[in-house]
Amino acid sequence: MPVANKIDLKVKVVDNLTGDIARRLVEIEDKAFGDGGLHNEWLMVPMVRYGRVFVAELEGQLVGSAQFIRTWTGQDTVYFYGVSLLPEYRGRGLGTAFLNDILRALKNDGIRKVILSVSPQNQRAIHLYRERYGFKTVKSVAGEYGPGEDRLIMECFL
Ligand SMILES: CC(C)(COP(=O)(O)OP(=O)(O)OC[C@H]1O[C@@H](n2cnc3c(N)ncnc32)[C@H](O)[C@@H]1OP(=O)(O)O)[C@@H](O)C(=O)NCCC(=O)NCCS
Repeated sequence: MPVANKIDLKVKVVDNLTGDIARRLVEIEDKAFGDGGLHNEWLMVPMVRYGRVFVAELEGQLVGSAQFIRTWTGQDTVYFYGVSLLPEYRGRGLGTAFLNDILRALKNDGIRKVILSVSPQNQRAIHLYRERYGFKTVKSVAGEYGPGEDRLIMECFL
């Protein structure tokens, strides 16, 4: 499902695991989150097969990915597991363009609510979620992922 947008970024759903796609997706996660992300194919493969994984391509290069799962916490609701761009592609509007297309695609798919968690230190991501898409912080959880790993829980309606 290609979704075009203004910057020459191609946004696609990963609908097969041919070639080394899973390994390349894990590489992007590793660069962004280390062990905190989808850091091996045992995590990435079910996310691709049973959740929804979007990729961002720029001039034929895979430069980012974002992952979602449907939840039991409400109707038409997804949990936004994460988004990451390769470090050299950050800070020039690509993340905004990527999420614009993704959220539009989810809405077209009937999704009405998106929930995510984010580190309170991750000001770039928080700014993006809040200012561009109207995500609101609904909870702050100390030690969500273990000691020192606090998270804000944010939600938005599409
Ligand atoms: C989060 C991420 C996907 C955003 O993509 P990006 O291409 O870097 O973001 P953009 O260039 O579109 O900028 C997004 C906004 O953040 C702002 N921003 C950039 N650095 C910032 C900072 N340190 N503090 C606050 N805002 C910041 C930008 O100005 C822009 O806002 P604006 O449009 O109002 O000017 C990308 O930075 C990334 O992969 N980060 C590492 C992984 C990660 O943290 N993922 C999110 C948690 S799951």
